[in-house]
Amino acid sequence: MSAMDFSSIYGVSHKPFLTLFLLFLLPLHSHSHNSTTSAQINSNSILVALLDSHYTELAELVEKALLLQQLEDAVGNHNITIFAPRNQALERDLDPEFKRFLLEPRNLRSLQTLLMSHILPTRIASHHWPAADLLHRTLSDHHLHLASKPSGQRTVDSAEILRADDVLRPDGVIHGIERLIVPRSVQEDFNRRRNLAAISAVLPEGAPEVDPRTHRLKKPAPVPAGAPPVLPIYDALAPGPFIAPAPAPGPGGPKHHFNGERQVKDFIHTLLHYGGYNEMADILVNLTSLATEMGRLVSEGYVLTVLAPNDEAMAKLTTDQLSEPGAPEQIMYYHIIPEYQTEESMYNAVRRFGKVSYDTLRLPHKVLAQESDGSVKFGHGDSSAYLFDPDIYTDGRISVQGIDGVLIPPEEEEEERTRRISPLVKVAAPKPRRGKLMEVACSMFGSFGQVCQ
Ligand SMILES: *[C@@H]1O[C@H](CO)[C@@H](O)[C@H](O)[C@H]1NC(C)=O
Ligand SMILES: *[C@@H]1O[C@H](CO)[C@@H](O)[C@H](O)[C@H]1NC(C)=O
Ligand SMILES: *[C@@H]1O[C@H](CO)[C@@H](O)[C@H](O)[C@H]1NC(C)=O
Repeated sequence: MSAMDFSSIYGVSHKPFLTLFLLFLLPLHSHSHNSTTSAQINSNSILVALLDSHYTELAELVEKALLLQQLEDAVGNHNITIFAPRNQALERDLDPEFKRFLLEPRNLRSLQTLLMSHILPTRIASHHWPAADLLHRTLSDHHLHLASKPSGQRTVDSAEILRADDVLRPDGVIHGIERLIVPRSVQEDFNRRRNLAAISAVLPEGAPEVDPRTHRLKKPAPVPAGAPPVLPIYDALAPGPFIAPAPAPGPGGPKHHFNGERQVKDFIHTLLHYGGYNEMADILVNLTSLATEMGRLVSEGYVLTVLAPNDEAMAKLTTDQLSEPGAPEQIMYYHIIPEYQTEESMYNAVRRFGKVSYDTLRLPHKVLAQESDGSVKFGHGDSSAYLFDPDIYTDGRISVQGIDGVLIPPEEEEEERTRRISPLVKVAAPKPRRGKLMEVACSMFGSFGQVCQ
């Protein structure tokens, strides 16, 4: 969305002098409120500098979020550090739908939380940057993860610092960052709002009928909004060469109560934002059949938990492991559980039962989970993985759990061991530009149509 749209929604034209004018008016108000501000804002303040800086998109959002008073109070009490996304991050790079959500007056809280999550209640200029990774409280309930890469590149959550100490003032500092940091609660508010809109748009209909002979729905009758589907998920899976035998296609229509496609898009988006899961996101974007299939299942009311291997895990996959036709899909289907599980539910289960096996979309293989080191460990032997980034995305239908390994069914591990020619070298592959899995898949059988061009 351009600045033009912005203005037309709010009828505000963004001009620096207006900004300053507003800012100097505010202290007058603050005395009628019960403000803790001890002094008038200084023209040398970091807040004045922000509103006058080249971070015009951020400055505009801060105003729209009605946060000036609160920030003024904050700098009255302590120094602050602002991580300012560059303009491009709030213009071109931001999902227009997400931006629209942020600007709706009823979502003011989300916008405020989002912005306050970019500000620390203390001054951390670059010469005070923590030597070790540090989780720091922000002015919202969220924490930011400050770190330095081995290359020296500094990061805050998934965003790189582009301009350290871009603005320095006696009461604070602004660092320019590459992208907006979206706190989980805000992402969840957004997802929830969308799903609510999708569900409430659906009219109630009669119960569906299953034909006992074909084991399919008699007619494309959607289940009531929110109700679980009638058929087991395996009946709903599209028949394909790589999946267990499925019955002939039935009359079930593609669109039901949930906008599964959008939810899948959301979670891929979340994965990309989260950082460290680009390979997985890449596969989902490019293996369109897989993403489409997941979207369809969710649309029909099924729920899914995706165990997403992180980039480091994906980089360890060998060409050997990908050499069979359809291997990328096979691997992916083995990482999808047809249940809705969160970190808490899985952890509680393994704590209570020791070992728990979950069905996967790759019949008949199951994935084993057990408690280990206070976390959940999946798989066995060579291919085991820990729950590494819990609850990356949870919207009630799709749950995404980050894991630190790629899982292989034990039966196949055995097979591989016996026929393996070269040892399973864990290659420390250089970070591939394009998803390695995709690259191999495309070079081997170029069967993904436009995806592999
Ligand atoms: C300011 O707040 C305190 C408690 O938070 C209250 O006791 C006091 O009456 C308030 N003063 C004004 C002027 O509202
Ligand atoms: C901000 O930090 C400076 C030192 O860098 C200090 O002199 C000043 O008192 C601090 N301001 C507040 C409001 O704590
Ligand atoms: C998907 O494939 C295209 C080329 O076919 C490539 O440009 C792109 O980087 C790949 N990944 C993503 C996430 O789009």
